[in-house]
Amino acid sequence: MLRVSGIDTYYGTSHILHEVSIEVDAGEMVSVLGRNGAGKTTLLRSITGERLPRLGRIEFDGKTISKLASHLRTRRGISYVPQGRQIISDLTVSENLELALLGVGKSRRIPDVVYEYFPALRSLTGRKGGVLSGGQQQQLAIARALVQEPRLLLMDEPTEGLQPSVVAEIQEIIKRIGSEHNCAILLVEQRLDVVRDVARRFAILDTGHIVATGPIGELSDDVVRKHLQV
Ligand SMILES: Nc1ncnc2c1ncn2[C@@H]1O[C@H](COP(=O)(O)OP(=O)(O)O)[C@@H](O)[C@H]1O
Ligand SMILES: [Mg+2]
Repeated sequence: MLRVSGIDTYYGTSHILHEVSIEVDAGEMVSVLGRNGAGKTTLLRSITGERLPRLGRIEFDGKTISKLASHLRTRRGISYVPQGRQIISDLTVSENLELALLGVGKSRRIPDVVYEYFPALRSLTGRKGGVLSGGQQQQLAIARALVQEPRLLLMDEPTEGLQPSVVAEIQEIIKRIGSEHNCAILLVEQRLDVVRDVARRFAILDTGHIVATGPIGELSDDVVRKHLQV
């Protein structure tokens, strides 16, 4: 469903991604790993359209979207949970969700599925985003993507900076979204235990190059030592 073929992405003259290719099938969960600065976020931003690659091609549902504006990619079914959550602090929980709905041109009604995944958010609807805990903000960031009813969800380090009990909750939610929601997921995640638990395949980025890829069973300690340890 998603096919990224040989993309090169830059920030100004800084050449970040080098001929990066990755595929995600419908309903499949693929994890992208790599050290800090490897280009993981840049890869996701290339797929959302926030950074247009200079070379290569990105296809979604068999159609080229390499030059398509970001909001149109969202409308086609690609939603994004950005690193650092990026909740709008001055808007309430409901308003943050409604804004995401507007992004796909849907009515202002927030689908119930959101509160099935995140019952805690229901009692927080009138709260400002900025006063939520880190875990609640992460729930809201995922909820905001889910209200768009995506077929492909891009998630950037959704467990970053969360305490272990909250990590476990988010991990379960990611699994549920993948299995019950029939949504493909491209997950950038540093925690190996999480990746090994949820993903079907992995790809490792090292200084903007894909250096290893395979079914999750091949994410051995050797591979980790070679490409991920500092
Ligand atoms: N907005 C930006 N302008 C210039 N360089 C950037 C920008 N964002 C990231 N970079 C650089 O691009 C490289 C890859 O960054 P990033 O994709 O954020 O890596 P990761 O998510 O794997 O930690 C890093 O060297 C980083 O400093
Ligand atoms: Mg990043």
